Amino acid sequence: MGLIFNKKTSYKGILPVHIGIIMDGNGRWAKKRGLPRKFGHREGAKTFRTITRHCSNIGIKYLTVFAFSTENWNRPFDEVTALMALFKQYLEEALCDFRKENIKIKFLGERSRFPQEIRTLADEVETASEDSSGMVLNIAMNYGGKDEIVNAVKLIAKEVSEKKLALSDISKETFSNFLYTCGQPDVDLVIRTSGEFRISNFLIWQAAYAEYIVEDKLWPDFKTDDLNRILELYSKRSRRFGGV
Ligand code: FPP
Repeated sequence: MGLIFNKKTSYKGILPVHIGIIMDGNGRWAKKRGLPRKFGHREGAKTFRTITRHCSNIGIKYLTVFAFSTENWNRPFDEVTALMALFKQYLEEALCDFRKENIKIKFLGERSRFPQEIRTLADEVETASEDSSGMVLNIAMNYGGKDEIVNAVKLIAKEVSEKKLALSDISKETFSNFLYTCGQPDVDLVIRTSGEFRISNFLIWQAAYAEYIVEDKLWPDFKTDDLNRILELYSKRSRRFGGV
């Protein structure tokens, strides 16, 4: 755990090492304004950039955002197309800015279903930013926690059948190394915007002992001060990990 000291808010407390965010409420934000849902995603992408930069500036080491779930393909074609365009735009920006931002970007999820253009960009961004020494930003795209676990089981089964891994070697720690987040610490804090109390298949292994904080605001309305307030709440939580 690290310490946060923010000159502006004078907030001093325990800083989570790994934050996960379910960026929910883009559609409702647009609906409230009589706009198509894709406008909500566009605003949501702006919030994503602001919050990512803020997390990096205050010393968060790992940030995982839920950008697209395995179930989101069921949304109307127009909305999925708009989201793909936003991902492409962000990946192109990231490719230009990764040195300035010093953020290491990783993608969690099964990327074979994405258009080739996005897959290539995602590969380029990961490679270009792999030596960055700052915050690790995991973007969960076509991600589902259950799929991630099934995938890990298959990889482990293969290693066992090829005698590269013994049954007795399988532990929680070795299992974690077969997840998309291999080598990263578990999640300390999950934030979900828009007031919904659901996990939605997000980091179900990694967030087993995370603190959950549900924020009423819709994602496009979420500001850096909201994050600071949540961090303050988090620092007052007593984490017992099943102990007393
Ligand atoms: C959930 O809100 C949000 C999503 C499914 C998409 C998240 C995407 C972004 C924030 C934009 C871009 C991200 C990157 C990484 C560039 P919802 O659509 O389910 O909202 P609703 O519950 O109000 O309908």
